[in-house]
Amino acid sequence: MSLQLTKEQKLVQNMIREFSRKVIAQTAAERDQTKEFPAENFKKMAELGLMGMTVPEEYNGEGSDAVSYVLALSEIAYSCASTAVVMSVHNSIVCDSINRYGSKDQKEKFLPALADAEIIGAFALTEPDAGSDPVAQETTAVLDGEEYVLNGTKRFITSGKNGGVVIVTAQTDTSKGHKGISAFLVPQGTEGMSVGHVEDKIGLRASDTVDLMFENCRIPRANLLGSEGDGFKIAMTALDSGRIGIAAQSVGVAQAAMDEAVKYAKKRKQFGRSIAKFQGLRFIFADMAVSIEAARQLMLSAAAMKDREENFSLQASMAKLFASEMVNRVTGQAIQMHGGYGVTKDYPVERFYRDARVFTIYEGTSEIQRLVISNHILKDKRK
Ligand code: CAA
Repeated sequence: MSLQLTKEQKLVQNMIREFSRKVIAQTAAERDQTKEFPAENFKKMAELGLMGMTVPEEYNGEGSDAVSYVLALSEIAYSCASTAVVMSVHNSIVCDSINRYGSKDQKEKFLPALADAEIIGAFALTEPDAGSDPVAQETTAVLDGEEYVLNGTKRFITSGKNGGVVIVTAQTDTSKGHKGISAFLVPQGTEGMSVGHVEDKIGLRASDTVDLMFENCRIPRANLLGSEGDGFKIAMTALDSGRIGIAAQSVGVAQAAMDEAVKYAKKRKQFGRSIAKFQGLRFIFADMAVSIEAARQLMLSAAAMKDREENFSLQASMAKLFASEMVNRVTGQAIQMHGGYGVTKDYPVERFYRDARVFTIYEGTSEIQRLVISNHILKDKRK
């Protein structure tokens, strides 16, 4: 591995690998069928510090470096991608944003509870008519005395049903474009906020994805995150971290798919010998291994840049783009190697394939990553 991991980082990786394969993996296939949110597992993960990796120690968190965090997240994704996406949005987006932009009161109120998994974090940016273009969002927040009144609908919200606090973005001044968007901390159960349609998805089935509706939802002024107009910057900064998280999920799922394919190819005999002996398959294994390792290095280098407090926006988009495209290819190849068995529920590769599909879509599609990357390279904007 070109990026030298420290002794502590290797320790975290090994410890989470063992936990993930012993605990998280056991019920992953069942969860995929029942769509049951693994609340108990998040408690266990919190005991190991996994739900507060991006929370400083003074707020009961681990205060982990970003490299350790992505290594841990990959290990969870190896066993259950549904569990990993919840951990990722919770840590990369919600805890990190509250830690970065929250007031002392907000940090004291939310961070310890998030680190202990008493509550799970969710992030509500997307709307029915504002996906890749979040500046077009229509949810409004109007100040009325000491309260903001929220109205609008958010769509595809990970953990919107099972989460305990949601970072919600809304327009506070529609005349200002992205500078008129603000972010708010809305606890679950706040009057006027309700869960609407629950998506029935191809993958990540144990992680809930829902519509959140706000109808005259009043929240205290103290729940504004950062200042008025900071919402778009908060969202973009959060997504930079989130995108390294999606790269980590991709690496974990791809590694799991390759390991399963290796196991199968060594056991399966056709034409009188193990299919792993055929050069056609061996070359595919070589390509899989190279592309997983390349994605891992992009993920690690983006995380290391974050740790060095450099601007890692470009690297995060590169890691997300490459890793999410890679895992879609690798899980497809793993199914192909399993032949007919690959599309049955007797082997986990079909779940990996389904889980990976959204990785090129959420937290910015591949097309949006290419836009971000080309803007960085050309040092101007398309428009
Ligand atoms: N960090 C900080 N600030 C940033 C930034 C970043 N990475 N990227 C842009 N900004 C700032 C810019 O500096 C600019 O600010 P100033 O005017 O003050 O200079 C401002 O934001 C506007 O920038 P742009 O003009 O580049 O913005 P844009 O409207 O062209 O959009 C975009 C840029 C990259 C397309 C952006 O809209 C984007 O990322 N779209 C995709 C949205 C997305 O990823 N959605 C995912 C939903 S969340 C999700 O999936 C989570 C889940 O539950 C799993």
